[in-house]
Amino acid sequence: MQTPDGLPAEIDLSRPSAARVYDYFLGGAHNFEIDRRLAEQIASMTPNLADTMRSGREFLRRAVRVLLDAGIDQFLDIGSGIPTVGNVHEVAQAADPQARIVYVDIDPVAVAHSRELLAGNDRAVAVHADLREPKLILDEARASGLIDFDRPLGILLAGVVHFVPDADRPADILATLRAAAAPGSFLVVSHSTFEDQPQEMLDAQRLSARTDTEITLRSRAEITGFFGDWTLLEPGVVHMPLWRPDSPSDVDEHPERFGAFGGVARYDRTAG
Ligand SMILES: C[S@@+](CC[C@H](N)C(=O)[O-])C[C@H]1O[C@@H](n2cnc3c(N)ncnc32)[C@H](O)[C@@H]1O
Repeated sequence: MQTPDGLPAEIDLSRPSAARVYDYFLGGAHNFEIDRRLAEQIASMTPNLADTMRSGREFLRRAVRVLLDAGIDQFLDIGSGIPTVGNVHEVAQAADPQARIVYVDIDPVAVAHSRELLAGNDRAVAVHADLREPKLILDEARASGLIDFDRPLGILLAGVVHFVPDADRPADILATLRAAAAPGSFLVVSHSTFEDQPQEMLDAQRLSARTDTEITLRSRAEITGFFGDWTLLEPGVVHMPLWRPDSPSDVDEHPERFGAFGGVARYDRTAG
């Protein structure tokens, strides 16, 4: 079902949405007054936030390139968001036109815009699903015919696991996703943290409670736990700009100001 302006009928315009607030911070056009008001309020408390979000996208792009170099040609990108420049399928298919991508997001606006962008691309789809139901996501990915779970794949969870509260057992969700992957697969996670953060960042986090998706900040140790027994690539779980920067000059004196850790791990265990 769509509204006359082409938006999915189920979108709730009475509350801001995390995906649309994020889109506004990235300079996108897929957001509404209610999202912009919350974004401006958060921005006035944490002037770094737009930079943080860009830093998150850059981390994701660097990680995807490392996976492509390792031969990964299929990606499951959960919490993929509203498409902006340099989406995963653009980075991946520029390097390998055969690369296949399944995007997943809980936000109907993000999914609708992703579908619009992907029209005509038979190697990428957008699925409307909830990370808290990982088995459904795996079923959808299989049903898409784009992901072969007997071969290595890249599971991307950039800036999304912090939307899963402890009560929804994020570690179990991650374990379910890892268990579906073949040896040689990679897991990419970036996640907001309270470690090394000023008070205004912690206050802004409380504002996220106004969206349908409140953020849970976690420690480096908790975030590292999401990789299970997979092998962390160097330099481990670090403040995002420190993860294999394109150039040393991309890292300033305060990489912690972006408020999130990022890491990449590989499933090394041999099958059987
Ligand atoms: C901060 S954005 C990150 C977008 C993209 N991964 C990136 O790194 O640029 C987080 C996205 O996660 C989505 N999200 C939040 N909770 C989710 C859930 N339970 N299941 C799936 N997606 C979710 C939001 O709708 C939003 O689009």
